[in-house]
Amino acid sequence: MPSSPARLVVLVSGSGTNLQALLDACADPAYGARVVAVGADRDDIEGLARAERHGVPTFVTKVGQFTSREHWDRALSDRVAAFEPDLVVLAGFMKLVGEDFLARFGGRTVNTHPALSPSFPGMHGPADALAYGVKVTGATLFVVDAGVDTGAIVAQTAVPVEDDDDVESLHERIKAAERAMLVDTVGRMAREGFVVDGRRVRLGG
Ligand code: GAR
Repeated sequence: MPSSPARLVVLVSGSGTNLQALLDACADPAYGARVVAVGADRDDIEGLARAERHGVPTFVTKVGQFTSREHWDRALSDRVAAFEPDLVVLAGFMKLVGEDFLARFGGRTVNTHPALSPSFPGMHGPADALAYGVKVTGATLFVVDAGVDTGAIVAQTAVPVEDDDDVESLHERIKAAERAMLVDTVGRMAREGFVVDGRRVRLGG
């Protein structure tokens, strides 16, 4: 990583429990990373409040403020670039980033998805897993590409589906495992570096 501690920009759209796990981990200097900014695509979300409570700068870039998705993507990229991130972490960010974003931050943007890729991509990973009837699901951390949850996989964690699960109980169990995976993996990426070789991602330089 060019900076030590590594500079993280985290993008959120909701409650921000994954962000909180990163903020807590970054309090330890040995973790090797710090959150330099938190961005969102909407106002008044707990994710932004969490950042503010930690004294981390925030910004909001809404699609509706722009005449096209491309203009939004460029504006978002500019806001992120201003904080000179080593790694961008999408943590419950419910928008697809576009061409401009990928041209600038491709290969160093990761996203966390609440399913075991390549199963159940998209916005409803826990609901789709439950409806399919799988017995094991989980979460996937991947390097963002132009597809929907298709990027090269950095880490995965498995979670059992219980007979009496509903979408909420299953998603909560996934999120507990997901936060641990995210903190562990982002820390290793920051401290050890990583190599993306086609679809294979290797931690360590
Ligand atoms: C997480 O489970 C994350 O994987 C999911 O939203 C949740 C955000 O929780 N993201 C997606 O589904 C993206 N397609 P959080 O706001 O409490 O971190």
